[in-house]
Amino acid sequence: MFKALFYVHLISVNLFLLIYLFKTILLLANKNEGLAKFTKLIKVPEMIASTLFLISGIYMLTQIPEIKILLLVKIVVVIISIPVAIIGFKKRNKMLALLSFIMIVAAYGMAEMSKKQKTSATQQGIEVTQNGAEIYSANCISCHGTDGKLMQMGANDLSISGLDMNAKIELIKNGKGAMTAFGSILNEQQIKAVAEYTATLKK
Ligand code: HEC
Repeated sequence: MFKALFYVHLISVNLFLLIYLFKTILLLANKNEGLAKFTKLIKVPEMIASTLFLISGIYMLTQIPEIKILLLVKIVVVIISIPVAIIGFKKRNKMLALLSFIMIVAAYGMAEMSKKQKTSATQQGIEVTQNGAEIYSANCISCHGTDGKLMQMGANDLSISGLDMNAKIELIKNGKGAMTAFGSILNEQQIKAVAEYTATLKK
C-alpha cells in the first residue's frame, strides 16, 4: 500500500512539475494566448495530478514514524508555493510564477536530499562493521584467529558461538576465564561493533 502510494506520489509530483514548467516557460516567453489555451486544456489533468499528489502525500505523512525537519520544511515550502503560483499565474506575474516554480523544485530537491541522507546512514552502518573488523584484528585474533576458530588459550570457537548479542557484549566487556575484560580498553560503541563483527564470523 505504502509503496503503491509512493509511486502515485512520485508520478503525480513529476506530472505536476512538468505542467508547471511548461506554464512557467509560456508565461516567461510572453505567450499569453498559448498559456491561456494550455491552462484550459490541462485543467482537468492538473486537478487530478494535484489531488493525487496531495492525497498520497498526506497518506504517506500518516505512515512516517518520525517527521524530520527537512520534511517539514519541504511541506511548508510546497504549501506556500501554491498560493504564490495561483497569484503569479492569475496576475501574469513572472517573478511570482518563477518563484513558485523554484520553490516546488527546491522542495523536490529536499526530498532527494533526505533520501541521500538515508543512504549515508547505511554507509555508516558499513563503517561500523569495518570498525568492528579493525577492532577485532587489533584485539581478538591473538586468541580467536582471523576466522574466530583459533581457540588459543582455551578460547571458544566464535564461528559456532550460540551467545546472543547482549551476552556477547557483556562477555567482551567483563571477560571470562582467560579472556581479557575489554570494558576498560574499548568504549561502549567499539564493544558493540566488535560483537556485531563476531556475529559475521558465524557460518
Ligand atoms: C587472551 C585471549 C583472548 C582474547 C584476546 C580475546 N578472547 Fe574472546 N575468549 C577467550 C576465551 C578463553 C574464551 C572462552 C571463555 C570461557 O567461556 O571461559 C573467549 C570467549 C569469547 C566469546 C564467547 C564465545 C562463546 O560462544 O562462548 C566471545 C564472543 C569472544 N570471546 C569475543 C572476543 C572478542 C570480540 C575479542 C576482542 C575484542 C576477544 N574475544 C578477545 C579468549 C580471548
